[in-house]
Amino acid sequence: MNSENEVQARVKKIVDKYDGDKSALIAILQDVQDEYRYLPKEALVSIHQQMNIPMSRVYEVATFYDAFSLKPQGRFVVEVCTGTACHVQGGINLLESLERDLHVKCGETTQDNMFTLERVGCLGCCSLAPVIRVEDEVHPYLTQDEIPRILRTYMAKKHGRKRE
Ligand code: FES
Repeated sequence: MNSENEVQARVKKIVDKYDGDKSALIAILQDVQDEYRYLPKEALVSIHQQMNIPMSRVYEVATFYDAFSLKPQGRFVVEVCTGTACHVQGGINLLESLERDLHVKCGETTQDNMFTLERVGCLGCCSLAPVIRVEDEVHPYLTQDEIPRILRTYMAKKHGRKRE
């Protein structure tokens, strides 16, 4: 866990990078999210205090954008498209398979903090349906059978090994 002082120091570094510019709030939140892979409550409070921005405003921006998460996320976020084209092509089955294989429900993170499973709207590549996206990589025409191999690939990445 991050201590409050440590969070404050890291937030201060980020805020300083933008010279405390209030109009840079989104960029600052993005940097904090990159640092922690989510927005810890202590970081939001620290931004509020250091930038003298009302807590309600910080919270409003933090919850408005899908790119921000208030919950800890795994090393890899697995986004399952359930837009219309992917839904028709079995996107929900992929989601169910992933829930089974990862032993989590949609929106949850695995116990080892490796994967967070999310359901998202159209990813803009419907001709490749059904798709999932992990770390900006889109996996097209996906079938349930391919899921274990894909998960293994990311687990190997985490451990710095190359394996297909
Ligand atoms: S519906 Fe899945 S990419 Fe468009």
